[in-house]
Amino acid sequence: MDSFIRVDPVGIAGGLALFWKGTSMVTLKKMCSWFIDVEIFDASLNKSWRLVNVYFSSDDTIRKDQWESFIHYKACLGPDWVIWGDMNDLTCAEEKQGGNARSSWSFRGFKNFIDAYGLVDLGFSGYLFTWRNNRSGSDYVQERLDRVLATPSWRILYGQAVVTHLETVGSDHNAILLNIRAAPSFFRSPFRFDARWIEDEESFSVVQQAWATPIQGSKSFSVYKKIQACRHALVDWKKRKRSNSADTHENFLQCLSLQYPNSNSISKVIYTRYNSSYESVLESAIRLEQFFPPAKVPRPLVIVTPLLEFHIQAAINCSKQHGMQLRVRSGGHDYEGLSYISYQQAPFVMLDLVNFQSITIDVENSTAWVQAGATIGQLYYTIAKKSPTLGFSAGVCPTVGVGGHFSGGGYGMMSRNYGIAADNIIDARLIDVNGRILDRKSMGEDLFWAIRGGGATSFGVVIAWHVKLLPVPETVTVFTVNRTLEQNATKIVHQWQSIAEKIDEKLLLRLFLTRANSSQYGKETVQASFVTLYLGGVDTLLPLMQQSFPELGLVRSDCIEMSWIESILYFSGYSGEPLEILLNRTSSSYTTYFKGKSDYVTEPISEIGLESIWKRVLEYPEEVTEMQFSPYGGRLSEVSATATPFPHRAGTLYSIHYGVVWNKAGENALNRNRRAIRRFYSFMTPYVTKNPRSAYLNYRDLDIGVNNKGNTSYEQASIWGLKYYGINFERLVHVKTRVDPGNFFRNEQSIPPL
Ligand code: FDA
Repeated sequence: MDSFIRVDPVGIAGGLALFWKGTSMVTLKKMCSWFIDVEIFDASLNKSWRLVNVYFSSDDTIRKDQWESFIHYKACLGPDWVIWGDMNDLTCAEEKQGGNARSSWSFRGFKNFIDAYGLVDLGFSGYLFTWRNNRSGSDYVQERLDRVLATPSWRILYGQAVVTHLETVGSDHNAILLNIRAAPSFFRSPFRFDARWIEDEESFSVVQQAWATPIQGSKSFSVYKKIQACRHALVDWKKRKRSNSADTHENFLQCLSLQYPNSNSISKVIYTRYNSSYESVLESAIRLEQFFPPAKVPRPLVIVTPLLEFHIQAAINCSKQHGMQLRVRSGGHDYEGLSYISYQQAPFVMLDLVNFQSITIDVENSTAWVQAGATIGQLYYTIAKKSPTLGFSAGVCPTVGVGGHFSGGGYGMMSRNYGIAADNIIDARLIDVNGRILDRKSMGEDLFWAIRGGGATSFGVVIAWHVKLLPVPETVTVFTVNRTLEQNATKIVHQWQSIAEKIDEKLLLRLFLTRANSSQYGKETVQASFVTLYLGGVDTLLPLMQQSFPELGLVRSDCIEMSWIESILYFSGYSGEPLEILLNRTSSSYTTYFKGKSDYVTEPISEIGLESIWKRVLEYPEEVTEMQFSPYGGRLSEVSATATPFPHRAGTLYSIHYGVVWNKAGENALNRNRRAIRRFYSFMTPYVTKNPRSAYLNYRDLDIGVNNKGNTSYEQASIWGLKYYGINFERLVHVKTRVDPGNFFRNEQSIPPL
């Protein structure tokens, strides 16, 4: 910016700032504590106009006096002028969200002020409101306090002028940008009335209906909006008439522009295959090598990276209107890539929540709001920066997104003490199929229940989670102790099955089983790695281990004391790295060719059973690269099996995660490895749960069943639904039937409606 004029605030109220580019065309005419009047000379029109920047007081009496003063002052402004700034008033109830409702008469004064000059509200693009009180929960209020009003003759001079609400840091108001010569957005073709439409009688009723739409606000604003509504209705009508139009993508983009006609901002967050950044945006959160180009997997027709909630609402509305599926991506860790791939051969839009990463920690109340596009690493980091004695119970890999992870469960190293992530969610903001923004209260307990473990993607788009933060001691202890078959691993693992679920809940002994070199030259063995977190110091851990699990032979030198956040680095393989590594969303160390599956165990596997598993692992190395046995019990068992859709509670000893990793590209390698791990899964049948053979939703596995491309019956979906959700599947189907009966939010394993 080349120049500016400012009026300082009084305390934290008021204050004005006007910035502009160029030096010669702006002349200050008058300024006082609540306004700045400048004359602007437009060389291209050889004409001057006036711009009055105001801060109207929030005190009703003072504001009315200011209006009076302005009425007298206005005589020296000439015909072409604009007044803009913080009006501290509204014209209708829709301009406010939250807090006490205002009576309709309370808007009259401001509307009269606008009508007195026949001023035109220039509308806006960007977020719906320009001010927020930054309180939480039901006290949160947002209003459109700032606006730009112009005289009709100014509006005619600058027909292309647009107003944008800009995001600001450090203020409770958005900044306002007035661009008097905005270029039309790249996908919006200018509206032209086609005289031939008159020949179709339907066009009359289209106009009549659109004109009848009730509009709140001043008279001139209402006329302006009605004309706009007619324009949009005609364009829509014309589009519907074009019955054989196959250009879904064009229609979708057109629809977005119509949803928010004054919004340029939405064009900045759209990527089609013709955009050079399309590939890089798509690939930025692909975690599995097999889904990177040139893999032949269906790609989104359009990617939207919303900046604002209304971008998400618009994407939902337009996808619905144009028969497009919608996929939502948070961290992109889905094992089958369902957040960015659709195997259902329908054109689809991908909503990438990468711009929804903000995290607000409330240390006093031990809670946090975390936006759905943040990663668990970002959440852990932000908590640790605020408090050394608060933490959160979720997964190990820092690049996992909270959007998918929390809505599918979220098991981690503190789960025996605090349950899964979903157990610690106290509120959420979700956009439903009708584009409504709901919180726990407005969505109701049934839907709030469903999105905490039932996979939110069947029900809407989660924008943010409100979570309960959990106390962690200043010192925790970690260890990794390895035992091979030669070091008695079979007996130790056998014993582990009996104690890991019962032991003190502050202790989580996770077990990783891999092939390793044997002490006998040239031979391979199985190695059991006990990877452990204890929420306390080594002095209490050692006697506990000695008493409950002496077979492991843990000694003090195996143990490392550290802070909880350092343990996050330890388990994710980043020991010694700066904490900031947790903010990295794109770590390649977690990207690989991979296929995973899961199981649950409720009866300990006998020593003979374990030995036959080891034999299989060694004889068929291609079938499984690693198994993880994750102990349950503790808090996980205390929560009832129906409290959330995650049913794996009391009676579950541990879960098994199978993974096969390979390093060769191509379809053949992919299919070969998929077949191999399926054989291993089949081999494990006698050792794991039956009827249903349970599985963990977050380890998504399309092998266990998928939806049809059209409707899927309850019975068919039960095949995999009962595996993931057990007795909760039926309730999930009922919630789905109520909130999304048309099955808009669907994927290969979404909950079908009845
Ligand atoms: P992604 O963005 O791919 O979303 C997954 C699913 O959730 C998709 O169906 C998507 O549409 C939906 N979704 C995402 N955001 C949404 C939103 N805002 N609203 C509605 N739906 C949304 N699990 C675990 O419990 N403990 C662990 O320790 C680990 N560790 C781990 C490591 C690695 C390397 C991987 C690849 C995976 C894990 N997981 C895990 C599994 C992980 O929890 C699971 O893949 C999550 O679904 C990932 O969530 P993302 O948001 O990252 O995925």
